[in-house]
This record gives sequence, C-alpha cells and structure tokens, in this order.
Amino acid sequence: MSPITRRGFVAGGSAALFSAITARKGFSAGATEQKIQVSPNDSLGTIHPELHGHFAEHLGSCIYGGLWVGLHSPIPNIRGHRKLAVEYLKALGVPVLRWPGGCFADDYHWRDGIGEPDKRPKRVNIHWGGYTEDNSFGTHEFVDLCRLIGAQPYFAGNVGSGSPRELRDWMEYCNYPSGSSLSDERARNGSPEPFRIKYWGVGNELWGCGGNMTPSEYCDYYRQFTTFLPRFGDIPPFFIACGPSKDNADWTNQFFAGMKGRRRQPDGYTMHFYSNGRAPATRFTIEDMNSQFASFRQLDTAILHQRGLIDAFDPQGKVGLMVDEWGVWDRMVPEEERQRGRLWQQIPIRAGVATALGLNVFHRNASKLVMCNIAQMVNVLDSMLLTEGDKCVRTPSYYAFELAKPHRGKTSIKTEPAQEDPLELSVSASIDGNSLALTLVNPKHEEGIKLQCSVAGKTVASAKARSLYHSDINACNTFESPDAIVPKNVPATAHGAEITIELPPLSVTTIEATLG
Ligand code: AHR
Repeated sequence: MSPITRRGFVAGGSAALFSAITARKGFSAGATEQKIQVSPNDSLGTIHPELHGHFAEHLGSCIYGGLWVGLHSPIPNIRGHRKLAVEYLKALGVPVLRWPGGCFADDYHWRDGIGEPDKRPKRVNIHWGGYTEDNSFGTHEFVDLCRLIGAQPYFAGNVGSGSPRELRDWMEYCNYPSGSSLSDERARNGSPEPFRIKYWGVGNELWGCGGNMTPSEYCDYYRQFTTFLPRFGDIPPFFIACGPSKDNADWTNQFFAGMKGRRRQPDGYTMHFYSNGRAPATRFTIEDMNSQFASFRQLDTAILHQRGLIDAFDPQGKVGLMVDEWGVWDRMVPEEERQRGRLWQQIPIRAGVATALGLNVFHRNASKLVMCNIAQMVNVLDSMLLTEGDKCVRTPSYYAFELAKPHRGKTSIKTEPAQEDPLELSVSASIDGNSLALTLVNPKHEEGIKLQCSVAGKTVASAKARSLYHSDINACNTFESPDAIVPKNVPATAHGAEITIELPPLSVTTIEATLG
C-alpha cells in the first residue's frame, strides 16, 4: 500500500501556510488530494490574446507543402492555402502570426516574393537544408493567409543581409495608402488597400544566424535601421528588437545601454526560449520528460529577470517583453527530417503538456509580457498541425492552445500556493466579470489529482471542464489515428465557493466557471 501523508490547508492564509497543503498519496486509484485557492481581486495583469501567438518560417515543410500547397494542387485549398489547415487554425483563433523567419528572415528579400508567381526567382534556403524555393508564397500570400485565419501579421525584417532601404521599402509597399510607386505596385499586384502591418521585427537572433553580432553592434544596426522606418499610413508601427537566447543578461544590458537617451525605444524586445528534449520526440523516458518540464521554471525566472533588466533602463515600462520563439525542441531523427523536412518532430501528449506548462507561465506573468509566439505552426518543432499529402492532424499542442483560449483578454489572477515547481500541479486562473477560467496541468504520469479549488469571496454557480490526457507519455495523434488524443469533457462540481474535479495523470484541464 502507498504511504499516506496529509498536510493541512487554510483558506485565505499566507503562502507559507499553503506549504502545508494536503497531499494524500494513494487515496484512491493513485490520486493525490490537493487544494488551491484563487483570488479574484489579486490581479496579475491582462492576458493579451497575443500571448497565444504563432510563428511560421520558411523551414522544412512549414510553409511549402504544409500551409501552402499551391494554386494548382489536388489537395483541397483556398487560393493555394491548405483548406483543412485554414479551417483548424481559424477555429483555434490565431491572434498574431510571425513570418518569414527565424533564421530565414535575415536572408529573405521581400521583392523575391511579389509579382507574377512564375516570374519570381528561385532561391536557395541557406539556413534550412539548401533546397530551392520558388517564392510562390510571398507578402500577398502571407497576408491572405492571415486574413483567412483571422491573425494579425507580424513581419520579421532582414537586418543581417538586408539594408535599411530594403526594410523601409517593404513597409512603404505594405502600408502606404496610394500614390507612391511602391504603393501603386502593391495595387497592381492585387491589393489597392494597404496591408496595414503593425508588427515589424528588426532582425532575428542577431547574436547567431542573423549576423553573429555583439549586442552593441546590433544596437548600432537597430538605431540605423529604425531611423528610416517612419509611420507609413494610418497604422503606428510596433518595432521589435532582438533580445537574447534564454536569460542572457549581457545581451540585454549592452543593447539597452546603447539605446540610452534615444527618444524612440523599441516597442517590443524579444527573447527566444526553447525547451530542449534529450531524446527523439516519441522515445522519451520519464526522466527525459521531467528534465524538459523542469525547463519551464527557467522560463518563469527568465521572464522575471529580463523584465527587471529592461525596467532598469525603462522605468515607465514602455518596452514590451516578448518571447517570440518558444516551445519544445526534441532530438531530431535524421530519417524523419529527410522524409518530412527539417526540424520535423512528432508531438506526443508529453509535448502538449509541456506546451500547456509554458502557456500557464505566460498567463501568470501576464503583466510582464506583450506577445509570445510558439515555434512553429505546421510540421516544425512544437507544431499545431502535422501534414502528409492531403492529411492534416491536430497535435496535443494544438489542443493545449485550444484549452488556453478561454483566458484570452481576461485578467490573470493569483492562485495559492504559488506555482513554482513545473513537476507539480501547475495552475493559471483568469477572470472577466463573473466568468472564471482555470487551466490545470498535472505533469505527473502516474498520479491523478483530486482537486478542491476555492474562489475567495465568491460562490460558484456552475462549472464545466475539458481535459486532454493520455497514460502513455509517448502517445500521439498519427495520420492513421488522428484523434487518439483530443480533449474530453470531464465532470467538475460547483458547490458554495468551491469547485472539485479529478485531474487525470499527465493532463491539461480547463475549467470554465460562472461565479454567482
Ligand atoms: O525555429 C527554428 C529556429 O530557431 C529559428 O529559425 C531561429 O530563429 C531559432 O534559432
């Protein structure tokens, strides 16, 4: 028999008191009893919908063969965009989509991707395998995709191998209403209306594939490039400066030291944070899984630390912190990459749970973040969709995003005990009027959780819940069995100020409750 340990719970008490939380192992079918409390009046900031943003790069089969099948494809499509992918992504709701890279961005020349498709040049993708691309997917096609799925476009500009003029011309082409040669060219190419692009990245990973620069070199480039980027048209541009990989303090300190005294600071500053896996995606051991889950503690700390570093230069908090590439990056299988494209990996339930841990970190840090973009949308890394021929499968990470959707635009609120250990129950909670959303991630593969959640000062009128789970950490949705892992309704009971629910092992559960 499993040992029984019991720790007490005091509603409304201090965090220290919560260290005495109930944990009665083996109570029923391996479930642990736990109690949490959410405090509707303790705001942690608004959860901007953009914290659920996405990223699509010209890499492997993300764009070509994934999202874009071409105008003459036998695969059902809308103006060349894979129809099923459009439907799934539209249903998911994609607040913002970053494109065309990644590393690809600093080798992309936007003029290659406009005009008559069969006259566009073929270029070698130097970063991702040296294959050629025919540029049939360019600026107009990307904006069309964004409109089809309801996303705000985010363009990552080329600093590494481009010029200030090239980037300013791209902006003019996209945003100037009419009457200049570039805006008239856009009209001739099918779009008399300006695209009104708000988000502009000024290079990508300039410390690496974007040009191997030092932070002060990049800062010089950032200042030079943005000098020539005015507001074209009626949309004030939002400029995004390249931040560090993970929590590199030196990059941030030197970049902002170089920006000191400048009238126009970046609107956004982005770090990249990947959660690396020690094994191929479908061959994880429990230890591999726990080591990957543990990285979400570092993500939490990195957000706090980087925000603090920026605040030292920007006491008014005008520069928005972003994480515009994040997600699981497991060990690649060369044969799979050869068959399906670079950085292709399966997305088992373990990856979906990891992705939900990341989303919970973002929700809890809502006041410190303005945008986060999962890498990537289709067939690359922590993807939402996997495709093969005319088949298109939604991954557990897609469903982790779907389960996070009720939090969008709501106020993130405090939960106790504090959520610090990604190997324990992870919680994010948010509220809008009487409507409460809670996402609960149980990272333990063999232990369910009987959870009692109290809502301070409120009564709960009703609660419903959906859960994504699987007992095999390596189980995934395949082309043969696309719906092996999908969210299912699970019972949640509202009683007085409490909601009770049983969380399956290795699960992501969202409760939507109405408060009385
Ligand atoms: O997302 C894959 C790659 O990871 C991107 O191209 C690059 O920015 C990062 O290193």
